[in-house]
Amino acid sequence: MDEVTLTLHEERAARIVVGSGALSRLPGLVAGLDPLNVLVLADPGVPGELVNDVINGLVDRGLRVSASTVGGGEDVKTIRSVENIWRLMAASGLTRRSLVVAVGGGSLLDASGFAASTYMRGVRLAYVPTTTLAQADAAVGGKNAVDIDGWKNLVGTFYHPDIVVIDPTILASLPHRIFVDGFSEVVKHAALRGAGRVSWLLTIAGAVRARDEGVLDEVIRFSVMTKVDVIRRDYKEKGIRALLNFGHTVGHAIEVVSGYRVSHGAAVAAGLVAEASLATKVLGMPEDEVSLLATALTELGLPTSVSYPPERLVSAMKLDKKFLNGKPRIPLPRRLGEFEIVELDWEVIVDWLTELAR
Ligand SMILES: NC(=O)c1ccc[n+]([C@@H]2O[C@H](COP(=O)([O-])OP(=O)(O)OC[C@H]3O[C@@H](n4cnc5c(N)ncnc54)[C@H](O)[C@@H]3O)[C@@H](O)[C@H]2O)c1
Ligand SMILES: [Zn+2]
Repeated sequence: MDEVTLTLHEERAARIVVGSGALSRLPGLVAGLDPLNVLVLADPGVPGELVNDVINGLVDRGLRVSASTVGGGEDVKTIRSVENIWRLMAASGLTRRSLVVAVGGGSLLDASGFAASTYMRGVRLAYVPTTTLAQADAAVGGKNAVDIDGWKNLVGTFYHPDIVVIDPTILASLPHRIFVDGFSEVVKHAALRGAGRVSWLLTIAGAVRARDEGVLDEVIRFSVMTKVDVIRRDYKEKGIRALLNFGHTVGHAIEVVSGYRVSHGAAVAAGLVAEASLATKVLGMPEDEVSLLATALTELGLPTSVSYPPERLVSAMKLDKKFLNGKPRIPLPRRLGEFEIVELDWEVIVDWLTELAR
C-alpha cells in the first residue's frame, strides 16, 4: 500500500492511501481528525455491503454518523442536486467541525466535493472512489464541478479532500462497462510517462481484464502516483497540469455530439488516438507510437475511434470551456513522454478531422 500526502498550500493537505485493503484505513484516518459528526453520501450504484462497511467502521470508532444516498451518474452534477446535498448537510447538523465522506463514482465525488467546499465555506471531506475512473483519476487533484446546460464542468472549485482512500479490490465486482471505462485515463497517464509505460500496460492488459488483484493494485497505484506527481508541480493548472487534458479535446467533443451516450472513457480513448494522429502531423510524433497507444487501448477493451461528422465535432469543441475565448490550445506528444501545448487554428482541426473521417 502507498501513502502520500499531497500538500497544496499551508491550509490544506490531502492524505491519499492507495492499494488493496486501503478501505480498512478509513475509520482510523477519519477518527484522527476528530470530527464533531460525519455525513456519509453514498452513490446508489455502490453495493449496499460496501456502504454498510464504511458506516459500521466509523460507528465502531465512536463517531456520530448519518448517511444518505444521493443520485449517482452524471445527473448528480447539477446545482439542483448540490442544493439537495446542502440541505442534507444542514439537516444532519453539519458544522465546519464536521466531515463528509463521499462514497461513489467520479460524478458523486464531483458533486459532493463542490457541495462540501461551499457549505459554510468549506467542511472537511473524505473520498472513497468506487469506479475505475474515480480511482485512477477523479479522486485525486482537488478539482470538482457541476454541469450547467450543455457546459460540462462549468462551475466548480479547487478543494482538496482531507482524506482519499483508494482500494482497488472494490473494482472486482464492477459491471464490465464501468470497470473498463477508467482505463483510458490510465493509458493517458502512461502516455505522459513514456512509451515504456504504455508497453508495460500492453503486457499486463490480459491480467487487467481478468481483474487480477495484484495487477489492479499495481495499475491503480501507478495511475494515482502519476497524477499526484503532476498536481504537485502545478495544482492550479498554470502549466504542466494541462497535459492531463491529452485526449480530452476530441473526447469531450465526442461526448457532446453523442448526447453523452458514448461514455467518458470510450470518448477519451478515441480522443487519445485521434489527438496522437494529429501529433504525427503537427509535431512529427512517430506513427508506431500511435499504434502502440491504440493497441494498448484495444487490449484493455476500449474503442480507438468513433465516427462523427467533423463539423459537428468542431462545433462541440467550440463549446469546450477551455476554448471559450479564442483558439484551441491542446497538449500534444512530440513522442510518448514528451508533450507540448500547441496552439492551432480551427481550420487545421477541421482539415485533420476530415482526413481522419475518410
Ligand atoms: N474532478 C476530477 O478531477 C475529475 C477527473 C475525471 C473525471 N471526473 C468526472 O467523473 C465523472 C465520471 O465518473 P465515473 O466514470 O466514475 O462515472 P459515474 O460517477 O457517473 O458512475 C457511473 C455509474 O457507476 C455507478 N457506480 C459507482 N460505483 C459503483 C460500484 N462500485 N458498483 C457498481 N456501480 C457503481 C454509478 O451509480 C453510475 O451509475 C464525470 O462527470 C467526470 O467529469 C472528474
Ligand atoms: Zn477524463
